Amino acid sequence: MARGSAPGLRPFLPADARALATLFRTSVEELTAEDYSDDQRAAWTSAADDAAGFADRLAAGLTLVALVDGRIAGFAALRDNSLFDMLYVRPDLVRQGVGSALADAIEKLAAGRGAKLLTVEASDSARDFFAARGYVPQSRNTIMLGGEWLGNTTMTKELAAAATGGPH
Ligand SMILES: CC(C)(COP(=O)(O)OP(=O)(O)OC[C@H]1O[C@@H](n2cnc3c(N)ncnc32)[C@H](O)[C@@H]1OP(=O)(O)O)[C@@H](O)C(=O)NCCC(=O)NCCS
Repeated sequence: MARGSAPGLRPFLPADARALATLFRTSVEELTAEDYSDDQRAAWTSAADDAAGFADRLAAGLTLVALVDGRIAGFAALRDNSLFDMLYVRPDLVRQGVGSALADAIEKLAAGRGAKLLTVEASDSARDFFAARGYVPQSRNTIMLGGEWLGNTTMTKELAAAATGGPH
């Protein structure tokens, strides 16, 4: 994808679940190694070991898939119209705007459904990405995941009121 051309986006389909689990594992393994140890990353990716549970998590909220050259390039999930639950980009496509395109769409959809505030438990590897989008750190957390302690940061962003699309 040429830098600057936006990826295609579409809603998650149940048939995507396996591909997204693989992308999730690859993204964590390759993109977060500076911030998390091998054991911590293994604990993080173990969330996809239960394939049915992972598919249910993707289907439970609003999940969007980004496509570049017809292939899945990343995905993002919004839970309860308030929590940015997941955002993962394929390692070979980082810093090309895929994460931004997904986050733009999630934020617009949430605002359109009435959300005023979005919260994310940002990984240390994604903190700068969210900060660059206007998310403000609220608290530092240490969470137990798969038998390992992992640090993350709760960040929030106030959403602008959605356009109503018609005159009043
Ligand atoms: C975080 C992540 C989703 C960003 O996706 P991306 O497609 O690379 O993001 P974009 O190309 O849209 O980046 C937009 C801006 O965010 C900032 N940014 C993104 N990644 C960054 C990084 N690693 N370090 C510093 N700033 C970063 C930059 O300002 C960037 O703009 P620039 O490239 O013009 O400087 C991706 O790196 C990822 O999947 N990380 C691993 C998984 C993870 O931690 N997910 C979040 C769980 S909460």
